[in-house]
Amino acid sequence: MTAISSTPEWAALADHSRALAGAHLRDLFAADPARGETFVAEAGDLYLDWSKNRVTAETMGLLVELARRAGLRARIDAVFAGERVNVTEGRPVLHVALRAPQGATVMVDGENVVADVHRVLDQMAAFARQLRARQWLGHTGRPVVNVVNIGIGGSHLGPAMAASALRDFADRGLTVRFVSNVDGADFAEATRDLDPLQTLFVVASKTFTTSETLTNARTARQWLLAAAGGDEAAVARHFVAVSTNAVEVSAFGIDPANMFVFWDWVGGRYSMCSAIGLPLMVAIGPDNFAAMLAGAHEIDEHFRTAPFEANLPVLMGLLGVWYRNFMGLTSHAVLPYSEALGLLPAYLQQLDMESNGKSVTLDGQPTAWDTGPVLWGTPGTNGQHAYFQLLHQGTTVVPCDFVGFVEPGTSPPGHHDLLMANFFAQTEALAFGRTRGEVEAEGVPAEQVPHRTFAGNRPTNTLLAPRLTPAVVGQLVALYEHKVFTQGVIWQVNSFDQWGVELGKVLAGRIHPELVASGDGPEPLLAHDSSTNALIGRYRAGR
Ligand code: F6P
Repeated sequence: MTAISSTPEWAALADHSRALAGAHLRDLFAADPARGETFVAEAGDLYLDWSKNRVTAETMGLLVELARRAGLRARIDAVFAGERVNVTEGRPVLHVALRAPQGATVMVDGENVVADVHRVLDQMAAFARQLRARQWLGHTGRPVVNVVNIGIGGSHLGPAMAASALRDFADRGLTVRFVSNVDGADFAEATRDLDPLQTLFVVASKTFTTSETLTNARTARQWLLAAAGGDEAAVARHFVAVSTNAVEVSAFGIDPANMFVFWDWVGGRYSMCSAIGLPLMVAIGPDNFAAMLAGAHEIDEHFRTAPFEANLPVLMGLLGVWYRNFMGLTSHAVLPYSEALGLLPAYLQQLDMESNGKSVTLDGQPTAWDTGPVLWGTPGTNGQHAYFQLLHQGTTVVPCDFVGFVEPGTSPPGHHDLLMANFFAQTEALAFGRTRGEVEAEGVPAEQVPHRTFAGNRPTNTLLAPRLTPAVVGQLVALYEHKVFTQGVIWQVNSFDQWGVELGKVLAGRIHPELVASGDGPEPLLAHDSSTNALIGRYRAGR
């Protein structure tokens, strides 16, 4: 494979970036006053305004050429055709099949997986309906009214984000919580006010070997059994599992009849539309869950078929490549102007950074170019009173996605217009700033003028949707999934493995016995570096 940085398309962009280096968004809007109406694209309910980026039509043309050179069209087709695009794990990557409508065909190893997908969706819906009707009874015959998901990473962040986003659509009579951290405070806090005999745990783990999840699940079992007089039969009414690994689920003691499967062609961070979404489906109901899947499918089809120039995930992916590789910017912020979407950045951190935080290409060569940025963000307007100072006047430029909604949801009167006034004001201020002349004209004392001047030229995307609905959550998820894939194709990395998380797990497995070795016996022989040895020694001494 030709290194992407050795292609003429890359060189053309490098030249172009030098030519455009001095251009200010003020100049770009002056040269093309209508760009706010033309540098836009729509798909589903999402309206993307990308006009406040430091690009021209020529830039986008060159970026699209780069995408063509990288073979993006063929790679998209390979994903949808079920090819084994996750080469280091030898797997297809088919989260798009999770939201394919009944009757569609997606073949894996000669089998149409869509039928299986809908069989599990039906199983989930039957379970969710029972719970929502308070007909799923606990060990003592009382209805389960609390659902606690135990899972981490992709088995936590997606459903937790969506359950928060869609809380206005949820049955508020059910308590749905999420436990992820092996810090026992997480479990203790999530269960402190719950009755074990009315609580059901969803143990969610693709591999069912993740130590944090299994530790929390064992603690949950003890917590339940303590209330059930030690009667192991209680487990069947209070535990279900979501996994690809039936053997380990049985070994843990969960009845396979209470297991919801998914498949190895679903990556953990791409799994929220699978059975991993079970706690979400319980909260919002099968119909709303189906609407979310339909929203994701709509964007899947848009990504698969729309020309790159009008393709939201492709446009957003290419803009990210522009900033990362041709402007040297290292981070990217996602700023939902929606309290309900507060977990979106955390969810996207795993999606983006676990996918594209790579430094070798698909064929194992070191990348000679930068790959995934640091992704971060919190809801507006809170961030405005914290780190926005740096966004406006700091020495680091951070491209941002602003995500907002026209309709207020359940917001009390007056709030939403104020929220959205801030939403629009921030992208305007970031783009156009406030010149020295403008500040002086306001009569600001001379010594304060430099402090109160805003350079502007800070790029943003605006994503605007009518309302935060299940369909829109599905659309946002698919949008960012495909954006990440677009970038991974250009950077020539495998966006679907995550070997970088393994070393820490192995070392923790070695250190844990050293921490717990009895103080009565001989001190364990520590063979780490001097820093790690001393830290472990200090911990043992104080433990
Ligand atoms: O350690 C990283 C990771 O493997 C993620 O990719 C995954 O989403 C998470 O752990 C949880 O894995 P599992 O669902 O197998 O418990």
